[in-house]
This record gives sequence, C-alpha cells and structure tokens, in this order.
Amino acid sequence: MSIPHFERINGKKVLFVHDRPMILSAGEIHNSSSSSPERMEMLWDRAEALGMNALLIPVTWQMIEPEEGSFDFTLTDALIDQARRRGGHLGILWFGSWKNGECMYAPEWVKRDMDRFPRAEVVKGKNRTKIDLFGGISYSTLSYLGEETMKADSRAFSALMRHLREKDGEENTVVYVQVENESGVMGAAREHSDRADEAFAGPVPAPLAEYLRANTGEMDEDFKRSVEGGMAAGTWSEVFGESAEEVFSAYHVASYINAVAAAGKAEYRLPTVVNCWLKQGPAGSYPTGGPIHQMMEVWECAAPEIEAFCPDIYVQDFLGVCDSFVKRGNPLFIPETANNGHVGSRLVYAVGHYHAACFAPFAYEEIGDVKPNPFAEMFGGDSTDPLLKQQQDIAEYRMYSSTILSMTPMLAAAYGTGRLQAAIAERGESAAMEFTDIGFTAQFPERFFPKKDGVCLILEESPECFYILANRVLPRFYSVNPDKPDAEILSLEEGYFENGEWKRTLLRNGDELNLMAFEPVFYRLRIFVY
Ligand code: DGJ
Repeated sequence: MSIPHFERINGKKVLFVHDRPMILSAGEIHNSSSSSPERMEMLWDRAEALGMNALLIPVTWQMIEPEEGSFDFTLTDALIDQARRRGGHLGILWFGSWKNGECMYAPEWVKRDMDRFPRAEVVKGKNRTKIDLFGGISYSTLSYLGEETMKADSRAFSALMRHLREKDGEENTVVYVQVENESGVMGAAREHSDRADEAFAGPVPAPLAEYLRANTGEMDEDFKRSVEGGMAAGTWSEVFGESAEEVFSAYHVASYINAVAAAGKAEYRLPTVVNCWLKQGPAGSYPTGGPIHQMMEVWECAAPEIEAFCPDIYVQDFLGVCDSFVKRGNPLFIPETANNGHVGSRLVYAVGHYHAACFAPFAYEEIGDVKPNPFAEMFGGDSTDPLLKQQQDIAEYRMYSSTILSMTPMLAAAYGTGRLQAAIAERGESAAMEFTDIGFTAQFPERFFPKKDGVCLILEESPECFYILANRVLPRFYSVNPDKPDAEILSLEEGYFENGEWKRTLLRNGDELNLMAFEPVFYRLRIFVY
C-alpha cells in the first residue's frame, strides 16, 4: 500500500490515504491543546459531534527536542495513539522556526544562542522591535538567512519524520504535514542585517528571475507589473522594482522551508503543505515572505517540495480568498478559517465548488458558541466581521460534514469536472448550475431565508440522477437540452450513504415533491427531459 500522497484527478489535487481518496473535513485545535492528551479527549468528542474525520494539531520543536540532539516523542506518540483510538486522522503542524512570523516554538537552546541562530533584524542592528500596528507588541523572530538555524530545524524535522515512519508508516494515522506556520517577518518587508543588505544589493538568482518572467499568466497584477517592468537580470530592485523586498523575503523563506521539508521527506515522504497569514495591508503588517497567493510563483520556484499553498481565512471576503488560491493547479486546502455562523455552508461550498482537499475551522470546538475576540487582529483576524455574531448550528455542521465524508469516492471522482457544482447564498441571490441535460437555479430569497448561509451542492451521477446536499435554498430545475425542452421528476428520495450504498429513508411525493430545503436535506433525485 502506498503512503499518503496527492494525486491529480481531472487535474485537481486529491489526497490519497491507503490508496483511497480522502477529503479532509477537519478542525484545527487551539495552539496549546496538543500539549495535553487529557484536553484532547474533549476535543475528539467535539470533532465527533461535528462529524469531522481529522484534527490538525501542532507538534512543536520545543516539545520534541528540549536539548540539542536528544529527542522525545512520548507526547507525539500519545497523540497518535489517541487519534487511532478515536478513529480519526491527523494533520501535523510543524511549529519549528516560524509560528505567525515569530519563533516562540523554537527550543530554549536555539532562543538563547543568537550568534549561532541569528534573529531577523527587521530594524537594522536590533534583534527585537516593537510592532506599532499591534499596539506596540514586542517582536522577534529567527533570521531566514540563518544557515545553522535552517540545519538545526531540518535535523529536528527529519527526526520527527523518521519517527512518524517508524510509528505510523503502515497505519497512516498522520496523513500530511504542514511545514512551519505562517512564516515570514513582521515589522518590515525584509530583514536589514548587514548580511541581508549585502544579499539584497547582489544579483537575483537567475533561475528565479527566469521562472517568474516565464510564469506571469496568473500572476497578481501588481507583481506582474513589477516583473514585466523590471530588468531580466540584476539586483533585486532592478529586476522586481516595488515588489523587490517582499520577493527577497519570499525567496529566502521558501528556500529555507524547502530545505526543512526536503530533509523530512528524505525520511518519510508524507505530503507537505505551507500556510499563510493573508496580506491585509502593506508589507510588514503581515508575516512578509510567507506563501500568500501573490507570492505563489516565487514559492513554487524556490520550494518545489511543497505540494499545496494554504490560506488561513479570517477575513470577510472568504470567497475572494478561495478564488485567488486555486490558481496554477493549487488545490483549495484551508487549514484554518473562522468558526463563524457561515462555516457550515462554506464547508459544503469549498467541496462542491472548489473541489477542496481540506477544510478546517480553527478552534472548531467553539462552533455554536463563538465569542467575538477584540484581539483577533493580532493574529490576522478581522474582529469587525459581522458573521462573528452569528452562530453555526452544530447538528447542521455534523450533517454537512458526515454527508460529504460518506460520499467521498463519488465526490473525488467528480473533482475537476462539471459533474460536481455548488451555489452559496454568500455569492448572491441566485445562481445557476448546468449539467448534461438538467440545469438548476439555486434561489435564496430573503423572505424565506433571513440567515444568508444557504448552500446547495449537486453531484450528477448520470444525466438522469443527482445527489443534492442543501439547506436554506430553493433549487429550481429546467432542461438544458434544446431537443427536449421539458423536464420532470421521476423520483425524489431522502437518505444517506452507508458503506457506499444509498439507503432511502423517505420517498417524497405530493406536496413534498417540490425541491426545497428549509433544513439540511440530502436528496437523490431522478429526473428526465422530454
Ligand atoms: C493563525 C495561526 O496560524 C494559528 O496558529 C492561530 O494563532 C490563529 N491564527 C488564531 O488564533
């Protein structure tokens, strides 16, 4: 049996575990919870209540290598054993050199030795600075130019991966690893040590300049302008103009993380991904150099070991962020998103529309009881988001998630094709989805659905048979076959999948033949055109 890996289905990257497709309907835990298997018991209970199949949990450098060269995997093993007992999977988040553009998870022996493991001088000559934007918080992180740091992080990560192979190479409870967390530097667009200044005044590596000039097709407009307006070779400023400082950071952070990922994958080739704190202002106001979609081409070039670039979405324009991350064959892989009142419909839409590999609300255990957090800005969140005042119903989320997971093989087979489509109220008042012979308009009239989180996922099994997962929506059908302009329902069943087999719970007819979803429904619809 192969180890977990990504495969492309109709061009979409899909995770395979034990040679079968797996969609991750997961939850990311709070940062400190995985230091306590006792606390994790409650988190597994919540994951079960929400119908999730995986948890995304930090394993930290501090935790596994408290003294240089001496590794302790007791806690890691306890977490894996627990996941197995609970019948779930894990994505491991490697908190090594970076966590939200800081280095708080590096072990003590790294933190104390600033000669061997230099800090990023975002202000020249300073190892620590204050970030005005966040009320003057004190800030420091490791330098992305620290070769010894990169080697030490790589050694630790490869020890972790070796251990995972030994412990989990057969069972594959752990299905992927995220290398670092929200990497980059805050407070400036790049480092300003003498070494960094010298490198910045030096030539751009030719392969990078060539790669970027050859790959402007889906590039962010501002970045494209810089690349096309710059020289083909020269210093960073000559080649990349206004984008130079950020590209410099992205190139060095990506190269560093690529080295860490490569060292780990030499031991155990699990899929590796990276996540980012989104750009929400000028460079320096978010971890700059991180894998934001605007820098995806730089990351692709400098970090070929990384298989997905992932957004952490805590902003209001959820759909806009998703749209911008599915370029260049990148799968939609959301390791973190706000657990607000729309999180359920966003899960369904991520799978139905973007054919997502992973969807994971952060702090999922608070779903149904989200309290606005005025400090959210300090972690990249928008605390003014009105959806944070709405709650997601837990039973509804469970229904969405478990239905999706019960039909994973069918969904995955339709990934990358028009046989799987979805509409969401967040996108507008109504939306059309057209299949071989039948079209559907998903209507979300405010009169019936004041809560604007309606959603409708439709999978065409054959031109006459559809599976529909829907809530707070009126799906209306019509023929799209010009030779047979009328359409009529043959049967409408409610039910569920058990071991891949459809089980009918209700045959709808009469008053209930109309397609409508005033609560979460899962239909099997047979329909013909004439
Ligand atoms: C993004 C980070 O990646 C998470 O670890 C966490 O800090 C969340 N922000 C919000 O708290």
